[in-house]
Amino acid sequence: MGLLDGKKGLILNIANDRSIAWHIANNAVKQGATCGFGFLPLEKMERRVRKAMEEGGFANSWLHPCDVGSDESIAAFFDAAKQQFGTIDFLVHSLAFANKDYLAIGKFLSTPRDVFKQALDISAYSLIALSRAAEPLMPNGGSIIAMTYLGSEKAVPGYNVMGVAKAALESSMRYLSFEMGQKKIRVNTISAGPVRTLSAMAVGGIDEMFDHVERKAPLRRNIEGDEVGKTAVYLLSDLSAGVTGENIFVDSGFNIVGL
Ligand SMILES: NC(=O)c1ccc[n+]([C@@H]2O[C@H](COP(=O)([O-])OP(=O)(O)OC[C@H]3O[C@@H](n4cnc5c(N)ncnc54)[C@H](O)[C@@H]3O)[C@@H](O)[C@H]2O)c1
Repeated sequence: MGLLDGKKGLILNIANDRSIAWHIANNAVKQGATCGFGFLPLEKMERRVRKAMEEGGFANSWLHPCDVGSDESIAAFFDAAKQQFGTIDFLVHSLAFANKDYLAIGKFLSTPRDVFKQALDISAYSLIALSRAAEPLMPNGGSIIAMTYLGSEKAVPGYNVMGVAKAALESSMRYLSFEMGQKKIRVNTISAGPVRTLSAMAVGGIDEMFDHVERKAPLRRNIEGDEVGKTAVYLLSDLSAGVTGENIFVDSGFNIVGL
């Protein structure tokens, strides 16, 4: 008996087998879910993602391009998902982007308007756009989750414009949870501690973040991507049926420390 037996869902986007989306997929599939995946339509990306899916034992799952910066791409993705799945039970938003030139310590003040707009568009507005597209596929309710980071609430050196985008993402999650609750759709975020992924490596000062967590977090260690995947299973499953509008930290407890 799996916690997600009989459930179908969409996970956007895996880049490789280190992606948080991959860890969520790996745990969801183990718990009985049928998953469809998105990938950013860049050269060689599909091949890389297929390889990562093989590593996870879900090589034959449905995979379709989706660039969340394009309304047409989102519409095409959900049209294809509807053909494939009919209805879905969950949606995972695990994607973000900001120009890495401005994710360096001391570079926040110089953030240009276009860099700000792009970071907020791809990393935060996309949750609204994907939720709107997913809603008609969830006639019996469902669960939507998105990934965030402590830099939304605290000034984490180097996280910069991405912190502003994560604050917008978390606020969007609360407004979406309020409106979509009437349709029995729950919306929550997971605030993960640092995990070594492609995106994380673009953040200036990431090594200091790993050091701080190891020295100061209650658990005195960094987290594993797999632990985010397990909390995601809880939020996507009926175990969390009464939970919406929440942000759950999976960060070894780092966020509660005031040192
Ligand atoms: N790794 C960490 O330390 C950490 C901590 C907290 C939160 N997060 C969040 O987890 C999520 C997943 O990131 P990750 O760390 O697994 O890195 P990752 O690089 O593996 O995943 C980021 C994904 O975003 C996708 N993406 C970027 N621009 C896109 C676009 N225009 N359209 C569609 N997809 C696009 C990439 O293709 C990639 O699949 C992000 O929201 C990230 O901010 C990561």
